[in-house]
Amino acid sequence: MSPDSLPRAMLITADFAELRRRVAAARHAGQLIGCVPTMGALHAGHVSLMQQARAECDVVIVTLFVNPKQFGPQEDLQKYPRPFEADGDKCRTVGVDLLFQPDVRAMYPVQFATHVAVDGLTAAWEGAVRPTHFRGVTTVVAKLLNLTQPDKAYFGQKDFQQQAIIRRMCRDLDMPTEIVTCPTVRDSDGLALSSRNVYLNPSERASGLSLYRALCLARDKLRAGEKNLAAIRLAMRAEMEQTPDVAVDYATIADPESLVELSEPQSRMVALVAARVGPTRLIDNLLIP
Ligand code: PAF
Repeated sequence: MSPDSLPRAMLITADFAELRRRVAAARHAGQLIGCVPTMGALHAGHVSLMQQARAECDVVIVTLFVNPKQFGPQEDLQKYPRPFEADGDKCRTVGVDLLFQPDVRAMYPVQFATHVAVDGLTAAWEGAVRPTHFRGVTTVVAKLLNLTQPDKAYFGQKDFQQQAIIRRMCRDLDMPTEIVTCPTVRDSDGLALSSRNVYLNPSERASGLSLYRALCLARDKLRAGEKNLAAIRLAMRAEMEQTPDVAVDYATIADPESLVELSEPQSRMVALVAARVGPTRLIDNLLIP
């Protein structure tokens, strides 16, 4: 093995002071810091974010924190997958420099009283179905960006509304981090990778493919010149609803910045879908230029 191919030593820490020391040293050395916030259960989608950060930055920090504030009372916080060792190995393989894995009590001490909430963008779609979710996301992401002070932070397009909201938060609060959105990674049959896919049994997984089919149907109709967006939305919904075990939450075509549902086609659009497949909730989207 040549010295160049030796794996980098990755620091794993839960210690805020140690993280701050490393960040300060990197900034002092003029290094570009990239941060990939995650809740663990890392899959090829997360790996692609880490790889992009590795390619673009001098120092790559991954945060791994299953954030209780973004789970509703009836959601899957307790059973959310936590394969921490395998996650560490994946980070190491990509060449991550620092894995920050804070404790819940350190992130949210008993006196914790501050939340970050973005208005407007959070009201519809995921926000309508999960009313406290985005406040939990923006609160933890604001904390993680304050702690890691990255030049760039990497998020997946798969959570389309999330990345739009985080972008808005950074703009509104003058946070200097550039938000980089990386393409959704899919299995070869089109299913978008998600940490929650492990909940799907084989027949639910097959039904989960209806989300991607609905998105492709919207894209193909728009490409073919269909202008009636209400009809396209109905066709997307029908595509999912005719599939066993699928209960649709929404199927829409919206403006990619404001996320407002469109009444007529425009140059850039995003098709958004969400459904419960058996007990598991899946979301997906497709940008349509
Ligand atoms: O996308 C996720 O995994 C989470 O919502 C995030 C951004 C890490 C915040 O907990």
